[in-house]
Amino acid sequence: MNNSSYFQRCIACRAEFDLAARLYVCSRCGGLLDIDRRDPIDTASLREVWRTRKSSLDARDRSGVWRYREFLPFADDVEIVSLGEGNTPLYDAPRSADYCRLPQVKLKHQGCNPTGSFKDTGMTVAVTQALLLGARFVACASTGNTAASLAAYAARANVPCAIIVPGGQVSHAKLAQALDYGAKVLEIEGNFDVCMNVIRELSEDGSVYLVNSINPFRIEGQKTVAFELAEQLEWNVPDHLVMPGGNLGNSSAFGKGFRELLQSGLIERMPSITVVQATGAAPFARYYADDAQGDFMNEKHPQTLASAIKIGAPVSWPKALRAVRETGGSVITVTEQEIADAKAMIGRDGIGCEPASATTVAGIRKLVSDGVIKESETVVAVLTGHLLKDTDYVMQYHTDRLTAPDDARITSNFANRPIKTSASIGSIKSVLSVS
Ligand code: F0G
Repeated sequence: MNNSSYFQRCIACRAEFDLAARLYVCSRCGGLLDIDRRDPIDTASLREVWRTRKSSLDARDRSGVWRYREFLPFADDVEIVSLGEGNTPLYDAPRSADYCRLPQVKLKHQGCNPTGSFKDTGMTVAVTQALLLGARFVACASTGNTAASLAAYAARANVPCAIIVPGGQVSHAKLAQALDYGAKVLEIEGNFDVCMNVIRELSEDGSVYLVNSINPFRIEGQKTVAFELAEQLEWNVPDHLVMPGGNLGNSSAFGKGFRELLQSGLIERMPSITVVQATGAAPFARYYADDAQGDFMNEKHPQTLASAIKIGAPVSWPKALRAVRETGGSVITVTEQEIADAKAMIGRDGIGCEPASATTVAGIRKLVSDGVIKESETVVAVLTGHLLKDTDYVMQYHTDRLTAPDDARITSNFANRPIKTSASIGSIKSVLSVS
């Protein structure tokens, strides 16, 4: 296999560029770039090939991203930068399903990736491409997870790395990861959108290679989650796929992955993709509610405790809109209260996730009560980050101290409070009601 069939194409003006062109947006019109290919892929035996690779010891086969490399824009012998990403579980979640008033909900847990978030599936590809291009510095703006992921993959690749984060607005766990992996962590005054503007400017003169999800190679990696999910469901796609929306790279990637599977005959239809945003950081939901017409209006002061998706100027909205439209999906919002309670429910399933991921179960509950999701339909929620990514939030919820950004108190409807007790066997038995 070689990669000569692949090229980059602007989704707005359709201009084409070589894969080796170091671009993040179209140099003609500024539109977003897709990786595309000229020749169709021969998929006749691919399902079998992919299944067989699961028992191989080759690092490319063990990665849940590179296992699907026929659909990635690289030569077969490319030296990959991998931490064994992907291969994440698809869980049944009976308590979350009950909470949504559905017989069944499945949770695809991308928080089970090496650095604890879905970003790793994109980062393995973006950093591999960075090495191919001879990049001497890789960088990103981040609400925390992209930072942790890039820091890890850059360390593996031995490439210097800088991350720009909004000072005081990133969870300690995510920052700790980036520091430990040796990244240069720059905390700036301003929110994620300010960080994104700075890093884009910095990447324009080529001083750093940008690996935010505006980089189409990130999307190539992340799209493979669609392949893995379809494979886990024996190539039957769910009726509904629900995911959080921040900078909108993930929804763009799922859209692309399922589109390619459909076009190559590996699946028969696409799942309906719904993107869920927090009410205080919902520029995409508002645009969608306005029939997605006219100019996209950024949210100047995005607010949510789900800090991963505290984003007001999502760069990939045109691609996400395409994914939602072509799958007959939607874009909705959920409140801080709904996110907090849904998160606790996901925890009760023994699974857990970070706050941004819980928008999904909160969103599904809403879609069920609005009659959009029917009892007979199959639903998968994408959990994007691990429970341990934001333990401050968890502790505050379970000790009735969680306060929304507008100072409204969040009611801990499913609190599991720690119990102070003496060390005597008698009092412990009495607390546990065992004799
Ligand atoms: N969930 C989590 C846990 C995230 O970290 C992010 C984005 C999202 C959802 C939203 O995904 O941006 O593709 O729509 N985090 C980025 C970061 C922005 O910097 O870590 P999206």
